[in-house]
Amino acid sequence: MQHAICYISTATKEFSNGQVDDLLKEWRQQNSNKNIKGILLFSEGHFFQVLEGEKEKVLALFHRIEEDPRHTGVIQVLGRDISQGSFDDYIVEYLKEPVFSKPKLISEYCESVKGMDPQVQQQIKMILESFIDTRVL
Ligand SMILES: Cc1cc2nc3c(=O)[nH]c(=O)nc-3n(C[C@H](O)[C@H](O)[C@H](O)COP(=O)(O)O)c2cc1C
Repeated sequence: MQHAICYISTATKEFSNGQVDDLLKEWRQQNSNKNIKGILLFSEGHFFQVLEGEKEKVLALFHRIEEDPRHTGVIQVLGRDISQGSFDDYIVEYLKEPVFSKPKLISEYCESVKGMDPQVQQQIKMILESFIDTRVL
């Protein structure tokens, strides 16, 4: 059974650009080993993440992530079984530049959830839009 989880959270400490890049790379590699796909964005101290894959693996990873002291205020906005996965790979992005005026970016990310259950897709798009628009929810 495939499962998708989406949450937002707030970093507990300041990360340097290099630190964030290293962490994102490490997690992408770990996810790829477990065949977990999705998206992880880091913007101005906030994380937005979608994890998608084999239910047991996704739930186990999310529980580990929830306990991770490097972030706090984890708000799960989605958690449901899905019939098919939508991501080709694990996308990680560190939004260093202001993205307020970048609707193209939003449509690019929305493009990456195409093929997902329409309800899930809609929810993720909405949360993604507010994440990118406001940078804080
Ligand atoms: C915001 C955030 C997102 C994370 N995302 C992932 C992830 O996608 N994949 C991953 O393997 N670890 C991720 N981690 C790290 C995990 O919490 C954990 O440290 C890592 O999986 C190693 O766990 P282990 O030492 O118990 O094997 C994330 C941590 C944080 C704070």
